[in-house]
Amino acid sequence: MPITHEIPVNLTGRSYKVTVGVDLLEQVGAAAAALTGSAGRGVIITDSTVRAIHADAVADSLTRAGCRCDVIEFPTGEEHKNLTTYGGVMDKLLSLDPPIDRKSVIVALGGGVVGDLAGFVAATALRGLPFINVPTTLLADVDAAVGGKTGLNAPAGKNLIGAFHQPGAVIIDAAVLKTLPAGEFGNGLAECVKHGVIRDDSLLDFIEGNIAKIMAADADTLAELIGRNVAIKAAVVSADERESSERAHLNFGHTIGHAVETAAGYGVVSHGQAVAVGMVAAFGIAEARSLIDSAAGRVRKILVALSLPVGFDDLPDLPAEARDPGRLREIMAHDKKTLGGVVRFILPVAPGSVAIFDDVTDEQIKAAIAAL
Ligand code: NAD
Ligand code: GLY
Repeated sequence: MPITHEIPVNLTGRSYKVTVGVDLLEQVGAAAAALTGSAGRGVIITDSTVRAIHADAVADSLTRAGCRCDVIEFPTGEEHKNLTTYGGVMDKLLSLDPPIDRKSVIVALGGGVVGDLAGFVAATALRGLPFINVPTTLLADVDAAVGGKTGLNAPAGKNLIGAFHQPGAVIIDAAVLKTLPAGEFGNGLAECVKHGVIRDDSLLDFIEGNIAKIMAADADTLAELIGRNVAIKAAVVSADERESSERAHLNFGHTIGHAVETAAGYGVVSHGQAVAVGMVAAFGIAEARSLIDSAAGRVRKILVALSLPVGFDDLPDLPAEARDPGRLREIMAHDKKTLGGVVRFILPVAPGSVAIFDDVTDEQIKAAIAAL
């Protein structure tokens, strides 16, 4: 069970460690016991898909560490990240016998949907329980599991209900990605490219040099990829937990990407595909503003090698509405990150570096979309 990276997230009074490696599920019990004291209690919250594949290993680990273990499952899928599922999970948690107490640890085992929902349960049950994130998708490994954003979707929009609640530990096992469907993999890869663009050009070198191993889900290569990405996310969160400044850099590619995802409708385009074309469009705006010259070509090549789209031609099922610059601009006006009608853009300014711009014109936005 090799640990390859131990990465601190430094937050006054709430610092924690992200442990990355291969075959680490068996370490979850020790982490829970460390948070709760021996003879503690862990409640695994997971979705029905991940429960069937990985929950037994985590439950065994908790039991071996001397913790009582319960499992609460909810149906797989983004459409279940809502108040109804939250209410059902919370009812089950509060009905456990013997009852949970403030030393009980929630173990969020799954992708970003589980992490967000179980994290919000942990944030709100008994006014706050400790929790451990055990992500099982590449997207959750490199993004969702680190940083303490938890929450639910509302009828009015995605992630509109939520709280910041940092985990007490994050344990990332790259080996579990072997069972992840290929379509899910691209969602995490798009976020890896994003991290390279915003903070670390050498991460793009690593990706370029390891495309075949990454696409084959080689566990050691993925552990290195995840470790590098978590180091970036942890540094950003440590500097700006509540997104008052540089945490917004993590939204690179998401402004236009979210609009495409929303306009396309549920399930037509994946989050990773939307972010990939969103990043290409952001590079287009940066070029039009003469912020950068040559970086866009390299990033496009990397996205293509990772089987991610770089334009609308790569997304043949995308409806006309989701390609329409005027419609996408309208959707951006309703994004929760839009303040006072100003659409905020994160744009590349140098290799591994971005800045925030509040003065991107409608013409620049529409031209970049039209060029996709
Ligand atoms: P997901 O949680 O829906 O998982 C994707 C699919 O893969 C599901 O069907 C799941 O059951 C399955 N799965 C998970 N792990 C598996 C494994 N090892 N083997 C086989 N199948 C597996 O989706 P996701 O992409 O991980 O997360 C998306 C969610 O994350 C969104 O709701 C998004 O809002 C949220 N998110 C949160 C943050 C944050 O900072 N909190 C950041 C990014 C995204
Ligand atoms: N995924 C963006 C953030 O964590 O802030």
